[in-house]
Amino acid sequence: MASSSLSLCSSLAAPSRSFSGTHFTVRPPPRRPVRWAIRAIGINPEIRKAEEKVVDSVAVSELAKPVTPYCRCWRSGTFPLCDGSHMKHNKATGDNVGPLLLKK
Ligand code: FES
Repeated sequence: MASSSLSLCSSLAAPSRSFSGTHFTVRPPPRRPVRWAIRAIGINPEIRKAEEKVVDSVAVSELAKPVTPYCRCWRSGTFPLCDGSHMKHNKATGDNVGPLLLKK
């Protein structure tokens, strides 16, 4: 079955030839439509991928520092805290992401 559909495809792709008695006419094969596949890409490259959804909660009153940066780029090695990895990401991609600053 697979070989018959394969030969059908190759016969469709072959140029057509005809002979009118004095000359040959060769026509190029009909153009096949181009198919595009667009796939959505997630924003989280590797953080806690085993979890169905990554959710964190913080009681702002319990923060140790007056200002604590939280990552919004999903590139931090200390996620959910920002470690500055967004700067490398921004430089490489032209993006403009930065942390969420929680203030006490
Ligand atoms: S490392 Fe992600 S926002 Fe800073």
